Amino acid sequence: MPRSVILGTGRAVPSRVVTNADLAESMDTSDEWILERTGIRQRHWVAEGENGVDLSKTASRAALEASGLQPSDIDAIVYASSTPDHFFPGNSLFLQHEIGFGTIPAFNVVNACSGFVYALSVADAFVQTGRYRNILVIGQEIQSTRMDVTTRGRGTAVLFADGAGAAIIGPTEEEGRGVLAFDLHGDGAHAEKLWVDGPGAKYHPPVSIEQLEEGRYFLQMDGRDVFRHAIVRMPETVETLLSETGLTKEQITLLIPHQANLRISEAVQKRLGLRDDQVYNNIERYGNTTAATIPIALDECVRAGRLRRGDLLILTAFGSGFQWGSCAIRW
Ligand code: COA
Repeated sequence: MPRSVILGTGRAVPSRVVTNADLAESMDTSDEWILERTGIRQRHWVAEGENGVDLSKTASRAALEASGLQPSDIDAIVYASSTPDHFFPGNSLFLQHEIGFGTIPAFNVVNACSGFVYALSVADAFVQTGRYRNILVIGQEIQSTRMDVTTRGRGTAVLFADGAGAAIIGPTEEEGRGVLAFDLHGDGAHAEKLWVDGPGAKYHPPVSIEQLEEGRYFLQMDGRDVFRHAIVRMPETVETLLSETGLTKEQITLLIPHQANLRISEAVQKRLGLRDDQVYNNIERYGNTTAATIPIALDECVRAGRLRRGDLLILTAFGSGFQWGSCAIRW
């Protein structure tokens, strides 16, 4: 079976920068508190008129250019987003139409923080079976429009942000290269620890005045519990992946952890015993863009020349669900 390789990457964030000081104008918080607890200095939030599909279009065009492929070369789209522009159809179809990919199949993965790793695993399986050759994988979110920017929402509003990342994968004949393995998990017992309750089709009607007044359309999170599980699950899944592939921590060139909180990434690095140069973080500039953190970071690393042929790249994610997992790629 052929292995898949990453042929090109791209990213996009909204132009509006929101600093910690900007947030302190509408809620009781401070730059010091946010920086100390999360490592975030600023994030990008959409302005009126900007939308998620536009972000993924920019990221996709950059990935097409980087890979030297045309839209007609793409055989399928796997799009991870838990914040689609509309209830349905998912953003993948809007992207397919607006870029002009033809009538190729377009899948949607609603996994929030682990979305990109899950989406990549779906795309990789298609490449391995030969069903589709070149697949566009997207991680995109707009979290800002679901944030309560008053003091009531300060536990989440300071963390989450907007952005999109794209990666095009396709088969390779080269021995030893490509996506080596995935390790994926979920535990629905924690589904309500990091979630958005509504609007939801289980409610009649799906959206109501009470729901809006109670703020149930805002993202809700038990931050402490998320933190506690994240720092255990991410190292655990990386260890599993390494043992299943016969690789060692010393062989990791670069680990890109989901950018949930700098303190979480630091704890993961410490538990795995990795050096600073083995771990990439950019949460300081982007905040937590959920499914977009990993492909945005990946694109930054690729464009900065951080990855060379033969390097071992590990992606690892944890978040809503709880769902978590990781992926090993020989660059
Ligand atoms: N500014 C100032 N004070 C804040 C605040 C903010 N933005 N957010 C919360 N606080 C306050 C709380 O109200 C609380 O005050 P109290 O002691 O008077 O009740 C105090 O700070 C401590 O709150 P707590 O929630 O216990 O803080 P924490 O140390 O757990 O830090 C998080 C909060 C959200 C930064 C932390 O729990 C976290 O990072 N969790 C993981 C979240 C995450 O990564 N989610 C995404 C996963 S994909």
